[in-house]
Amino acid sequence: MLRQTLLQLSKSTKVRSLVETAPVSRGVVRRFVPGAATPDAVRAAADLAGSHRYVTIDFLGEDTTDMAQARATRDAYLALLQQLRDAGLTEGGRSEVSVKLSAVGQSLGADGDKIALEHAWDICSAAHEAGTTVTLDMEDHTTTDATLATLRELRDDFPWVGAVLQAYLRRTEADCRDLATAGSRVRLCKGAYDEPASVAFTDRAEVDKSYVRCAKALMAGDGYPMLATHDPRLVDIGGALAVQHGRSQGSYEFQMLYGIRPDEQQRLADQGEKVRVYVPYGDEWYGYLVRRMAERPANTAFFLRALATRG
Ligand code: FDA
Repeated sequence: MLRQTLLQLSKSTKVRSLVETAPVSRGVVRRFVPGAATPDAVRAAADLAGSHRYVTIDFLGEDTTDMAQARATRDAYLALLQQLRDAGLTEGGRSEVSVKLSAVGQSLGADGDKIALEHAWDICSAAHEAGTTVTLDMEDHTTTDATLATLRELRDDFPWVGAVLQAYLRRTEADCRDLATAGSRVRLCKGAYDEPASVAFTDRAEVDKSYVRCAKALMAGDGYPMLATHDPRLVDIGGALAVQHGRSQGSYEFQMLYGIRPDEQQRLADQGEKVRVYVPYGDEWYGYLVRRMAERPANTAFFLRALATRG
């Protein structure tokens, strides 16, 4: 119930402007978002690299409704990749980028898919020059087919482009089998949007079971699985599946969000696991933050406590 309410709130422009202008918001947001400017993201990437963690960086923004903003988002990624490259952080894919197609034009009417493809292609080309990779984030289920179609087109030129699949969708186990092919990078997450029961498992235990089935399909295949979860049980199961399928460390990776379970990230990295941290940056943090609150009451409590004590 709380989850659904919060996910609805993520779309409210009124609540958004209230939260964004609350005097303490920015301080609280910093736990999950290292900053608004490109150098903030580069600094976070350097810090994480210093502790043997890999990074994927997301320039925050989604559901872009005008062309100028879609272009500006593309340009922000190009500048980011250049700065990461200059700082020596892209070598061997140590820092890559995550892109939401809706932020680069997917929702711009009839030509949306074409515009998003062109912008994503430019970003992939810059990533290629910098020696790193791109992963396409996955948004709500109405965009899944279009995003996977764009992925296929991009992979013709850039076979290393990664996909995200969401275990809460009923279709995902089959998608995992389709994408578990040589060279295919697939991030498996539970899924963060408010989806109807017609397309998604709504019971948490069902989502977890689906996650395990999907992880099995990916680990058994020839691709490169990226297990994105903070769930201790699923992390353990992921490690066990890797052993069962004879995978060596580095032939798959774990992924977690910036600011969430950093000790666990470090513990896994210290054990020799490849761990990548998803680092979002930029001004458009509202939707991202509300999804984090919807996932975990403790995150909401943290935010409300900060408002109450300082407001
Ligand atoms: P969940 O939130 O169910 O938590 C399970 C358990 O993990 C908790 O019971 C607790 O034990 C532990 N835990 C979680 N948070 C904790 C905390 N703050 N402190 C301590 N313990 C904690 N979604 C999407 O729809 N599209 C996308 O493209 C992406 N991309 C993405 C990238 C990466 C790298 C990650 C990690 C996640 C995403 N997501 C996503 C979000 C994802 O779908 C999901 O909403 C969140 O990861 C939360 O799900 P968990 O698997 O972490 O489990």
